[in-house]
Amino acid sequence: MKQQTAPLYVLVLAAGAGTRMKSKIPKVLHALGEKPMIARVINAATALKPKRIGVVVGHGGSLVEEKLQSLGLDVDIIWQKQQRGSGDAVISAGPWLKRALTQNHSAQCLILCADTPLVRSQTLKDLRRVHCKEKFPATVCTMQVDDPYGYGRILRDSSGRVRGIREEKDATPEEKRITEVNTGIYYWNMQSLTQTLPLLKNNNAKKEYYLTDTIDLLHSSGQRVASHCLPLNRAQNSLNETQGINTREELYWAEKELYLKVARRWMAQGVTIFSPETTFISEGVQIGQDSTLLPGTVLRGKTKVGSFTVIGPNTWIENSRIHDQVTIRASFIYGSNIHNSAQIGPYAHLRPGTVVMEGARIGNFTEIKSSRIGKKSKVSHLSYIGDAILGESINVGAGAITCNFDGLAKYKTSVGSGSFIGSNVNLVAPLTVGKGAVVGAGSTITKNVPANSLSLERSQQIVKQNWPLHRQDRKKK
Ligand code: UD1
Ligand code: CA
Repeated sequence: MKQQTAPLYVLVLAAGAGTRMKSKIPKVLHALGEKPMIARVINAATALKPKRIGVVVGHGGSLVEEKLQSLGLDVDIIWQKQQRGSGDAVISAGPWLKRALTQNHSAQCLILCADTPLVRSQTLKDLRRVHCKEKFPATVCTMQVDDPYGYGRILRDSSGRVRGIREEKDATPEEKRITEVNTGIYYWNMQSLTQTLPLLKNNNAKKEYYLTDTIDLLHSSGQRVASHCLPLNRAQNSLNETQGINTREELYWAEKELYLKVARRWMAQGVTIFSPETTFISEGVQIGQDSTLLPGTVLRGKTKVGSFTVIGPNTWIENSRIHDQVTIRASFIYGSNIHNSAQIGPYAHLRPGTVVMEGARIGNFTEIKSSRIGKKSKVSHLSYIGDAILGESINVGAGAITCNFDGLAKYKTSVGSGSFIGSNVNLVAPLTVGKGAVVGAGSTITKNVPANSLSLERSQQIVKQNWPLHRQDRKKK
């Protein structure tokens, strides 16, 4: 492996108001495939093994700080008190940059915006390579786009060298036609950066300190600026990885791009996905070969799916382990473990701590929480099973439930293998039903049921012969 010479410091700009999102949540915390945009940018930069990562926060800064902490991201938080532009954001980080420079005179700084969440670490590495090869004070990462609207345009001199960046609001009609734009990603020699920042002025349409003006400043003082241009992305309906996210619509496009990429990867590995546009697989999910995902399937968190399993339509699974040959239809499943050949749904709700053993069946309108359903047991319709251990080959009738909560505490139910729980039974916990027991329909069971016994709790049926159906007939009688 090549030795990395200059120590790298990464600065992520995340203080902007993000007004175009029209949100109370800071823009950079809006998630893309479960992960906030800013976390994606930090993750991409982490792959370059920087000495430190600094994050400039301002608008909603405490929320951003809290989130980064809760995600366990080890970054230095730098406050920009007033949001006076991207240049001002970097100026706010002045003491942090200077400290880095004192530690190492050849330090380099990668500047990124927190609102380009699709950026790949490979691109950042390529940018570093160009910067280290060219040996100019700064290297700007640019891209070719069809529609440059909103981006800073890259201005080049007659010999093709970058001479500046012009923001949309300040651009002349000719400059607006330029399709090479600024991605907002720059590689700097720390020394040059700290020398250039104090020269920034805010004499522009927005009265802001533009970071982009540092490039003009370098050029006008006779220094060269290197560039690394990402080609036009010609794939149909596909975004550039350095697309900035400023609106909910751009967020939608980026998220779609991300999910499609993941879906394509799984299809390539032998998973059938009927409708990739309506199937959302998070990046941390794993799926076995020959499994099928039907439209409206959402697989989130650390979910792991086995082989020959069919999921969907309209199913949401989070942090669950689904084994082989399982069928799950139109259900919501959280923190559960579903073993081979189990059948779930339609319309089941499996909450954390549910374990469904091999060949068991959970039917429609059934909720299960912190319970284990043994091999080949059936809870087929309209049941609630909470804090219970069910053995093997049990049949739970329609509407039977565990009463696990008395308003103060939760209690456990245990049902032995081979038992038959009739329809509409209430099993009042704490309760043990022995093996091979039968509980008659409609019973409210409060005492333990011995093995191989029948328990029945039911009032006498009253029968009145020849009872008239209509009220007036009843009155005549
Ligand atoms: C910026 C660039 C533009 C580039 C585009 C790429 C400037 C002046 N323009 O425009 O050339 O094509 O990104 O996506 O830099 N920020 C702060 N503090 C502030 C203002 C902004 O930290 O006071 C941060 C924002 O949180 C954001 C980044 O700087 O992460 C860029 O700001 P934004 O307002 O999104 O700039 P754009 O108009 O997109
Ligand atoms: Ca932006």
